[in-house]
Amino acid sequence: MEDVTSTLATLGLDKVPQEANTYPALNPFDIYRSHITELLSQASGVDKHVIYPTLAWTAKPEHGDLQLAVPALRLKKKDMKAFAQELADQFPESPLVKKPIVTNTSIGFFFKPETLTSIVLPMVLRSKDSYGFNKNLGLKNPLDPSSGAKKVIVEFSSPNIAKPFHAGHLRSTIIGGFLANLYEGAGWEVIRMNYLGDWGKQYGILAIGFELFGSEDELVKNPIGHLYDIYVRVSQIQHDEAALMKKLKEEVGALKADGKDSSEQEAQLKRLEAEGMDEKARKYFKGMVDGEPKAIGIWKRFRDTSIEKYKQTYARLNIRYDDYSGESQVKDESMDLAAKIMWDKKVCEDSEGAVIVDLTKYSKKLGKAVIKKKDGTSLYLTRDIGAALERVDKYQFDRMIYVVASQQDLHLSQLFKIEELMGRKDISDKCQHINFGMVLGMSTRKGTAKFLDDILRDVGEKMHEVMKGNQNKYEQVKDPVQTADTLGISAVMVQDMKGKRINNYNFDMDRMTSFEGDTGPYLQYAHARLCSIYRKAVDTDPSLAELDLTSADLTLLQEPHAIELVRQLASWPDTFLNTLKTQEPTTVLTYLFKMAHALSSSYDHLQVVGSERNVMIARLALYVAARQVLNNGMRVLGLSPVERM
Ligand code: ARG
Repeated sequence: MEDVTSTLATLGLDKVPQEANTYPALNPFDIYRSHITELLSQASGVDKHVIYPTLAWTAKPEHGDLQLAVPALRLKKKDMKAFAQELADQFPESPLVKKPIVTNTSIGFFFKPETLTSIVLPMVLRSKDSYGFNKNLGLKNPLDPSSGAKKVIVEFSSPNIAKPFHAGHLRSTIIGGFLANLYEGAGWEVIRMNYLGDWGKQYGILAIGFELFGSEDELVKNPIGHLYDIYVRVSQIQHDEAALMKKLKEEVGALKADGKDSSEQEAQLKRLEAEGMDEKARKYFKGMVDGEPKAIGIWKRFRDTSIEKYKQTYARLNIRYDDYSGESQVKDESMDLAAKIMWDKKVCEDSEGAVIVDLTKYSKKLGKAVIKKKDGTSLYLTRDIGAALERVDKYQFDRMIYVVASQQDLHLSQLFKIEELMGRKDISDKCQHINFGMVLGMSTRKGTAKFLDDILRDVGEKMHEVMKGNQNKYEQVKDPVQTADTLGISAVMVQDMKGKRINNYNFDMDRMTSFEGDTGPYLQYAHARLCSIYRKAVDTDPSLAELDLTSADLTLLQEPHAIELVRQLASWPDTFLNTLKTQEPTTVLTYLFKMAHALSSSYDHLQVVGSERNVMIARLALYVAARQVLNNGMRVLGLSPVERM
C-alpha cells in the first residue's frame, strides 16, 4: 500500500481512493473505480454506493476504460441523455482520468495513459508472481484477516482402476487442476481430491485374471496398462462363459421339451455356475467386502501401484493431490447412516426388494434412483451419498466442487437432491457440479488413445516433429525432447480450455501443436520471446541485470503500442476476479491471447536492444512486466511457461 500511496502522492492525490471491499494496492482498476466514484459523487450528489457497482468494463476501447450506464443508476429522470451529459459535465478532469465522453446514455471514462503506466508497471514489478491474485477473497470474513481461509474441496480426474483413462477424465483433470489453482490464487484453502473408481465385482475379476495372466514385473513397470490388459482378457472369458451358459440353458429347455436326456448339458451348466469366472469374481469380491486379508491385499496392491504411476503422470501436468479417496474408501457405516436417515425421513421406499428414491415427485427429469440393489449391495450413487457425509466430518468444507463430464449431470443432480431431502441442505448448498462437454475423435496415430501417458507421449512426439520443421531454431534449443514434451502438454491443455467448458471439441493434433492460431505453443512462444528479449538486453549490457526496473523513466513509454499493453496489464486482476465468477478457463485464455497478440504487434515499434539506454530500460520494464503477467496467467491454467524454445 505504501508504494501506491507514494505513487499517487506524486500525481497529486493526497490519499488512495478506496471504497469498501476494494484492494487498491493489488488492483489498479480498484483505484480508478473508487476515484471516479468519489469525484462523481462529490460533483453530482449521487450516492457512492449507487455509483460504484454501476461502473463496468467496456466492450470496445473507444468507449473508455470504464463505463457508466446512467439508467442503471435508477434515478428518475425525464431525459436520460441530457442527464448523462449533465453528470459528465459536472465531472472534473483529474490527474488519473480525462474529461468523460457521453455516448447515448453512457458515460465513458478514459484513464490518463501516463499516470496509468506509473501506477501499473511498478505494481506488477513489485508484486511479481502474486500480481492479479488476491488472498483476501478467500477469507471467512473479508474484513478480518485473522478469520482464516475458507475451504474448498475440488474433486477431479477420478479415473477407474483397470479401465482406460478416457476423454472425460482428461478434461476433468485439466479443468479441475485449473479450478484448484484459481481458488488457491484467491486465498482459499484447497483440498485436491481424486475419487478413484476402485470398487466393485470387477476387481474380483481382475484379481482372478492376475492369477491367470499377471506378471509381477509388468505390474511394477506398467501397472495401469498391465491391469487393463488383464481386465480385457478376463472380461472376455467371462463374456464367453455367459454366452455359453445362455446357450446351454436353451439346449436343456429344448431337450426337456422333446423328452430327451439333458443331464450332460445340465452338469456342464452346474459346473459353470459353481466355478465360472462370474461366480469366482463374486466370491472374491465378497472376500474383499468382508476384509479378508488375502483378497484385500491383492486389490490394495493394484490400487497402490496404479496410484504411484498416476502420481508421476499428474506431476507432468503440475498436479498433486491431497487426498486419493475412492469408492472403496466409503465406509459401510456412512452408507448405513445415510440409509437410516432416508428411511426415517421417508425419502426412500422398497421396490421389489430393492431400495429406491422416487425423485419424479420433484422433477420428471430426476427419475427414480436406486440406492440399494436386491442383493443388498451399494451402488455408485449410494457411495457418493456416503462419501459426502464423510467429507463434511473430515474437512468441514465451505464449498465442494465435483468436476465431472456432463454425461453425469443426472447422477449429480440426483445426489444433490437426495442430500437436500435427507435434510442436509447444509451439504447440497455447498456443492457444485462443474460439467463439461465431450472430446470427439481422441485418437492418435497409434489408434484410439486409452491412457493419459500415451496421449502425452504422442503429442510430445508430434510437437518434436513440428519443432524440427524450423532447423535453425531447433538447433538452439538446449533440451529439445524435454521442451517438446512441455509444449505438447500445453498444446493439449490449451485446446481443452479454449472454449466454454460445456462445448464439445475435436481432438486435433495438427491444429493444437501449430505455432499459428490461438494454441498452447503460440502462448509459450510469446512467453519465451519475452524471456529472450530480456536475456539479449542483459547480454549487451550486463549492468541491466542489477537494475531495479521500477526506477525506470516510464514517461518514455508514449507509443500507442506501449499504452495498449499497459492497459491490458492493468486489467489482469479484474480478469482474475471475473474468472472466479465464470469458473471458465477460457476467461483467462481469452485474456492471455489478447495480450499475446498485442505483444507480437508491438515488437517492431518498441525495440529494446539498440534503443537509447533510458528508452531501453523503460521498454524492458514494460516487457518484464508483461512476461510476469503472462506467466501468472499461464500458471493459473496449470501450464509450465518455458523460457526458451
Ligand atoms: N470414476 C467416475 C467415472 O469414471 C467418475 C467419478 C466422479 N465423481 C463422483 N464423485 N461421482 O465415471
